[in-house]
Amino acid sequence: MMPIIHDIPKAELHLHIEGSLEPELMFALAQRNHVQLPYGSVDEIRSAYQFHNLQSFLDLYYAGMSVLLTEQDFYDLTWAYLQKAASQTVKHTEIFFDPQAHTDRGLAFETVHDGIVRALTDAKTQLGLSSQLIMCFNRHLSPESAMDTLHQALSYKDTIVAVGLDSSELDYPPSLFQAVFEKALEEGFLTVAHAGEEGPPEYIWQAIRLLKVSRIDHGVRCIEDPALVDYLAETQIPLTVCPLSNIKLCVFDRMADHNLKQLLDRGLCVTVNSDDPSYFGGYILENYQAVQSALNLSQADLLQLAQNSFQAAFLDELQKQSYL
Ligand code: HPA
Ligand code: ZN
Repeated sequence: MMPIIHDIPKAELHLHIEGSLEPELMFALAQRNHVQLPYGSVDEIRSAYQFHNLQSFLDLYYAGMSVLLTEQDFYDLTWAYLQKAASQTVKHTEIFFDPQAHTDRGLAFETVHDGIVRALTDAKTQLGLSSQLIMCFNRHLSPESAMDTLHQALSYKDTIVAVGLDSSELDYPPSLFQAVFEKALEEGFLTVAHAGEEGPPEYIWQAIRLLKVSRIDHGVRCIEDPALVDYLAETQIPLTVCPLSNIKLCVFDRMADHNLKQLLDRGLCVTVNSDDPSYFGGYILENYQAVQSALNLSQADLLQLAQNSFQAAFLDELQKQSYL
């Protein structure tokens, strides 16, 4: 391993906090909360993590969340991720959460939000790790449900910096959520969206033009549209790429086929992130390592990726400079 991968300060910008739920914690929370899991052991959970596309992952991802019930559960989940991130020299992290996946199970928005934010606050003082929180709308649910969720978030503008769009991509174009994102922008939230993971380049264009996103999450299918690649290079709209996720969900067959290096060489603001580390077999460090060895990245490439991660973060210029 290149030691620089561990040692360089990094920002993580694409991390679903519910996707950092390790089988050990899932098992412990199931016992604490008397929730029945369809698995007999931690090993059984791990061996169930074989996916052939995004949906096959999402089915297990939403099922796993059933053990999260209390504010303390969300604290424990978030704290475990933050400790891991800090141990890999992550200095700043921007975390997604999926409120609808919890409010639809009867939990209060506040329970989810407060547990996560309490851990983020502790991470700043105890680990020197700064953060932002991004609330995602699930695109397999209706735009009305998203609008409802946005209304609930209006009391949390101090702690939620942006809204995002995740879950099943195919057949759910960003255009469905234009009105919700317009309202979010009016209310002062920044916007991001998953696009071009499984969906076509057209969904990336829609995210840019209709949802006015500051970053594209994934975005790797931009490569199919040369005009879009030109546009991304020119505007420096960042892509939060998640290499191990892309392999686990069969977006690319092998890491050697991944287009990250091509996009980097083309001058795009590409970043490396872990997406759902518990399900995809690695945190940010393992993601950097996997692309470095499969794509033969140079030290300069690695430094560029780390620098891009701060450039693309929701930090002011002064804060960015302090990390670079
Ligand atoms: N894509 C879409 N939705 C998600 C993902 C992802 O990679 N992870 C968690 N929700
Ligand atoms: Zn994601």
